[in-house]
Amino acid sequence: MRSRRHHRRRFSAVARVLALVPLAGLLLCGLASGAHAGALPQGESLFDAHCASCHGYDLRGRRGVAPSLIGVGAGPVKFYLSTGRMPLANPQDEPVRETPIFDPSQIRSVAAYVRAIGGGPIAPTADPAAGSLSLGFKLFDENCAGCHSIVGRGGIAINAQVPDLGQATADEVAEAIRMGPYVMPHFSTAQLDQHDLNSIARYVLWTRHPDNAGGVGIYNIGPIPEGIVAWFVGLFALVIVARLIGERLA
Ligand code: HEC
Ligand code: HEC
Repeated sequence: MRSRRHHRRRFSAVARVLALVPLAGLLLCGLASGAHAGALPQGESLFDAHCASCHGYDLRGRRGVAPSLIGVGAGPVKFYLSTGRMPLANPQDEPVRETPIFDPSQIRSVAAYVRAIGGGPIAPTADPAAGSLSLGFKLFDENCAGCHSIVGRGGIAINAQVPDLGQATADEVAEAIRMGPYVMPHFSTAQLDQHDLNSIARYVLWTRHPDNAGGVGIYNIGPIPEGIVAWFVGLFALVIVARLIGERLA
């Protein structure tokens, strides 16, 4: 019968393939480090073309023009580029959210380049699925709502335009929390740990599509409430929703 031999042949084929695995591993490692080596020249040429005029070819900044990027790490670079805040057109402009000029892989390569030359931490990330919505609501209320308003709609400014959080991704939330862009304070891991970050990101994303149990209407209010009465009614409704969620998730 052919099946036995067939099996044995197949077995030896498998063994041969297995024997090749370490070799393939070596090859892949080589490729990966090749790819890594490719990211840095790309990062460098993008940096030199779009950032160096203000931040300097050596990343040390230029007095009165732009700050040094030595030691800032990957987080602030990713944040500024993925939210389109950099490159600024004019050093006097306040950075605001705009369409990014780079795609995600270009952003990663510029961040890798800045970190390779200037040092500093890797970029923080957030995993909303691993966070708790009720904890996120509580932490956002305590640490962020004073500026961004409880529904993340931005608004009242303290010498600065506080942005609506309707577009920020989970990672951008984490990056903003760790770096504190412009007048926003930054929060260390002792103040807000990774679980807190995940939870806040989850809450920020949730504010865009809350379950409608009682929260109806609040979304029409906009950044500056048309009527303070409507505002309080909405806020009250949100607190009820939050409590319901809190009980469900607790
Ligand atoms: C026209 C000048 C200009 C250009 C071009 C520019 N920047 Fe900036 N950059 C600034 C200024 C001014 C600030 C400080 C902004 C502030 O005070 O909020 C800044 C801040 C930053 C920060 C925050 C630094 C910190 O200490 O937190 C990062 C990161 C950054 N820029 C990255 C870049 C990258 C990457 C590019 C190129 C894609 C770039 N910038 C292009 C002027 C510029
Ligand atoms: C003192 C006021 C203040 C507090 C408190 C504050 N922020 Fe901010 N936040 C700002 C300002 C101002 C900006 C815009 C900075 C800039 O344009 O460079 C900002 C920007 C952001 C952004 C970027 C939004 C975008 O779409 O580009 C995120 C995300 C963010 N904040 C999240 C938070 C979270 C989460 C907290 C609480 C842990 C918080 N902020 C606390 C003032 C504040």
